[in-house]
Amino acid sequence: MRTGAIVVAAGSGERLGADQPKALVRVAGRPMVAWSVRALARASDIAAVVVTCPPGREREMAAALGDDAPVHAIVPGGSSRQRSVAAGIAALPTDVEAILVHDAARPLLTPALVDRLTARVTDVSGVIAAAPVADTLKRGAAGDVVEATVDRAGLWGAQTPQVFGARVLRAAFADAGDAELDAATDCAGMAERRGVPVHMLDPGAPNLKVTTPADLRLAEVLLGAGRIT
Ligand code: C5P
Repeated sequence: MRTGAIVVAAGSGERLGADQPKALVRVAGRPMVAWSVRALARASDIAAVVVTCPPGREREMAAALGDDAPVHAIVPGGSSRQRSVAAGIAALPTDVEAILVHDAARPLLTPALVDRLTARVTDVSGVIAAAPVADTLKRGAAGDVVEATVDRAGLWGAQTPQVFGARVLRAAFADAGDAELDAATDCAGMAERRGVPVHMLDPGAPNLKVTTPADLRLAEVLLGAGRIT
């Protein structure tokens, strides 16, 4: 399906402690956001890529992406992730049949993963990158005391990219109120609440989200080792 992609890159990245937005921090020789846009540009079904950026940083974002990471539009993001996704949806060409949403904070994206996801999506469903939880899970009580061990059977960690039939994702956003746009942490949750079947696909390779300085060093090693060319 002809797919429009949104790379959400409007976060501040406070936990990374950088003096610039996280998406613009360089990792293995490129601004973090450029790794994802390059991977999308090399995938089979991506017709257009929209990048959301912190309001006022559009020029910096354009310079960071340069010519080797082509985009359809760079638009200011919103005050929450889902508001940034909404801004991205509004900027996509209206004729795309599927919409893929990806966090700039996951720079290990590969064209192969994008292709696997877009090959499975339909008009009326979603497909998301997700991995079965490997750790034993604890619910914490006050302080650092364990209240309970949570059964991890059937639990997955949701990642991005997340791809949906364009009509069902647009409908979910059209239906969402302020509270949901402020609180939802991914698009799949919004789709699920409206009865859209969402499938999970394990990337089978690291797809880490860069949050802390240690994550950044790990991404640097993995990208520097030439996972993506
Ligand atoms: O903050 P967190 O790392 O969970 O954000 C996930 C993604 O959403 C990041 O790529 C970030 O740039 C993006 N984001 C956004 N607009 C916001 C907040 C986060 O585009 N207001």
